[in-house]
Amino acid sequence: MSPRDVRRPPERFIDLARMAAFDTLRDVHASDAYANLALAEQQREHDLNAQEAALCTELVNGTCRWEGTYDRIIEAAGGRALGTLQPAIVDVLRLGTHQLLGMRTPTHAAVSTSVDLAGIALGERTTGVVNAIIRKVAQKSLDEWLDELTAGMGERGALALRTGHPRWIVDAWAAVLPDDELEAALLADNEPPVPTLVVRPGLAERDELLTDGGRPTEYSPHGVVREGNPAQLAAVRQRRAGVQDEGSQLVALALTRVDAPAGRWLDLCAGPGGKAALLAGLAGQQGSTLLANEAHQHRAELVRKALMGYPVNTWQVQTGDGTRPSWEPGSFTRVMADVPCSGLGSLRRRPESRWRRTPEDVHELHELQAALLDSAITSTAPGGVLAYVTCSPHRAETAAIVQQVADERVEILDAPSFLTEVPDCRALTDERFVQLWPHRHGTDAMFLVLMRRRQD
Ligand SMILES: C[S@@+](CC[C@H](N)C(=O)[O-])C[C@H]1O[C@@H](n2cnc3c(N)ncnc32)[C@H](O)[C@@H]1O
Repeated sequence: MSPRDVRRPPERFIDLARMAAFDTLRDVHASDAYANLALAEQQREHDLNAQEAALCTELVNGTCRWEGTYDRIIEAAGGRALGTLQPAIVDVLRLGTHQLLGMRTPTHAAVSTSVDLAGIALGERTTGVVNAIIRKVAQKSLDEWLDELTAGMGERGALALRTGHPRWIVDAWAAVLPDDELEAALLADNEPPVPTLVVRPGLAERDELLTDGGRPTEYSPHGVVREGNPAQLAAVRQRRAGVQDEGSQLVALALTRVDAPAGRWLDLCAGPGGKAALLAGLAGQQGSTLLANEAHQHRAELVRKALMGYPVNTWQVQTGDGTRPSWEPGSFTRVMADVPCSGLGSLRRRPESRWRRTPEDVHELHELQAALLDSAITSTAPGGVLAYVTCSPHRAETAAIVQQVADERVEILDAPSFLTEVPDCRALTDERFVQLWPHRHGTDAMFLVLMRRRQD
């Protein structure tokens, strides 16, 4: 026992890492907090050292990712529906289950810390049920539980349990991936990515970030993969570099590689400004300027901060609804429409989101996504190019929107031919579309369509 452990008479104690992990899970489940934000807050509040913080992070992220599978195991072990247990007890059990089945914590340690956590955080009366259920969970390995739970189940349902995903996401991935890649794609959602940085064109060189184990990204000429806290780097603090997934860099780059007439560029949905910062730098190098539009004031402020390193006469940020533009039709020769989406392409970054999102979320966005693409087409000058981008591979947000909105005003271009360095990036839904995948490319699952506005 360390002097930092939380003790309560008579003889219960819990280490700070588990206490902070439990408090984070309560924030996530009782207050709908984002796991990453709640985790950072609880780590600060409990004043965790680096080792404790690493354990706490694994406990929270692993428990959140595998929640659906763990819940079925807890129900089977307890012989009762989850809804009959107090929600905070369920969180204690989820944490214990992750230690037993996901982290290989010795049984006696996982059981005693679960019971002590329940006693300290929820009261002695809760320890009996926690003790009984967690001991049952400990009687089988993860594989044994999965074999038992998936017996007689269909293939997709079993895959959902075995990869820690809701069934509807498995079905959505199956609609846009070859069968033999489905499992690999789902498992890749469980691997947290190493932070990827981007150097802002003209403001920094990659070499500056290639220290302390930093290495160039595989495809983007502007990216660096680097462990550690990006905020500690001078280039990031000075906004000469930023944090940006490689896939996000690549879709912005593709737009800049298509031949287009000289003129102003537009980022229609710019917040928080990752793509806008790359586009502004490249626009400046080509003698153009960028208008970055964003619907929400606070996100427009983030865009402004991201662009601050560039000369002020090369960019402008404005707050406005992109479906009701303040500019004249045909005002821009390059237009980025990186529309609001479900974010299902970045599940590896947001451990809890797969259990929080619903199919309805995807369908609710349909009208706005279609209206923004329509507005992007109208905003593009004849001969100019536009990109429709989502950080989701879901068909309803990608191919379905393009098929609905892209009409005789535009020609659909062969987007993969503008990313020749990226292998296997043709989408299954239409080979002129780009679909990146974590399991293939190590990027978020970004989707890209490039179009040229026809002459009137
Ligand atoms: C996927 S994010 C864009 C990410 C951004 N391009 C980047 O790389 O950092 C979509 C953005 O669209 C904004 N948005 C939502 N509705 C909008 C609208 N009607 N017009 C313009 N922007 C909108 C959201 O606030 C959000 O910041």
